[in-house]
Amino acid sequence: MIEFQNVVKQFPDGFRAVNGLSLTVHDGEITVFIGPSGCGKTTSMRMVNRLLSITEGRILVEGRDNRDYPAEELRRKIGYAIQQIGLFPHMTVLQNIAVVPRLLGWEEDRIRKRVDELLELVGLDPDVNRDKYPRQLSGGQQQRVGVARALGADPPIMLMDEPFGAIDPITREVLQDEFLEIQKRISKTIIFVTHDIDEAIKMGDRIAILKDGSLVQYDTPDTLLAKPKNRFVRDFVGADRQLKRLGLLRVRELMTRDTPNVSLRASTDDARRAIEAAAVKSAFVVDEDGVLKGWVDREGLRENPDSLLDAMNEGDFREIGVRQSATAREALSAMVARGFRITPVVDERGALVGSITLRALQELADQGWVEGEQAS
Ligand SMILES: Nc1ncnc2c1ncn2[C@@H]1O[C@H](COP(=O)(O)OP(=O)(O)OP(=O)(O)O)[C@@H](O)[C@H]1O
Ligand SMILES: [Mg+2]
Repeated sequence: MIEFQNVVKQFPDGFRAVNGLSLTVHDGEITVFIGPSGCGKTTSMRMVNRLLSITEGRILVEGRDNRDYPAEELRRKIGYAIQQIGLFPHMTVLQNIAVVPRLLGWEEDRIRKRVDELLELVGLDPDVNRDKYPRQLSGGQQQRVGVARALGADPPIMLMDEPFGAIDPITREVLQDEFLEIQKRISKTIIFVTHDIDEAIKMGDRIAILKDGSLVQYDTPDTLLAKPKNRFVRDFVGADRQLKRLGLLRVRELMTRDTPNVSLRASTDDARRAIEAAAVKSAFVVDEDGVLKGWVDREGLRENPDSLLDAMNEGDFREIGVRQSATAREALSAMVARGFRITPVVDERGALVGSITLRALQELADQGWVEGEQAS
């Protein structure tokens, strides 16, 4: 845990970059610091590992004032990754990652093992990359090395200052996904600075919005999007915050499991009965393995009363269904693009597991609006 208690940073020129910041960064969570340029994100972070001194207040690291730690212990506890990575250009990948373990006096064997382990972790083949120099790597690969270096001594805490800031959007998404996967396994306590709200929503367990050195709102992404505290936060998260909120919800959690469906081998009468029993307009059609093959509606059955195969609309599950792991936002886009009001939900094999309606998504978004407006 990291606790900021009324932390103030006043620079020698009299400027107060951080002004009474209090908040708790919980164990095993990613807390995102976000806010306009100059609002004090980097300054706040650099006080945690004592790269900057604290003017007033204090920061507790695992319950202890961070000024009471010997410098070396603090360095071991806290990994630091920054934008533009800060890799040493004249050092190899191995030497870069080994910086902190070396400072800590680890044996050479242990360091080499650790470096290989970290390279694997961040998705770089150790044999190919360990002896390269930073300039021989792409931006995304350098960023991975930067993350590996921050993890060098396996610190429980990581400070990440716009770690993916300098990367093109596509590589950035890949790195974000990879890092979230890694975090699932290593559960570090992380402060992650960004000025990209989409990145904040994706990466953060909690988001702290800062302005002029003060905390404006500290909440989970969902609460932040549903109930922005004031106009500043509302403007900051953007007019499309309801859509963003849908990006946090998984289809799996929203779908109806009980979805009318019939087998490919069913008769048109079976299909008609299934549709009538559920009081819906259409039913999905599945094969003997439950894999989605298409859908059939009342009109189709009327026009082709003798054969389900003739009556049904065939479709590949990848084209007519959405994955249960998809976000509600992705489901909404798919429905809008295809002109469906209801869309089948499938698992990895394409088996039908439920369905989701446009109306359900609409209601979800509307709900957020009302709450959000009332809260401000
Ligand atoms: N050494 C210094 N002396 C005086 N003022 C400083 C010093 N370092 C930073 N500042 C000021 O403190 C404020 C906060 O800086 P900080 O680097 O924390 O901002 P930030 O939120 O990280 O911004 P960005 O998104 O641009 O990285 C800025 O207005 C900056 O000009
Ligand atoms: Mg900064």
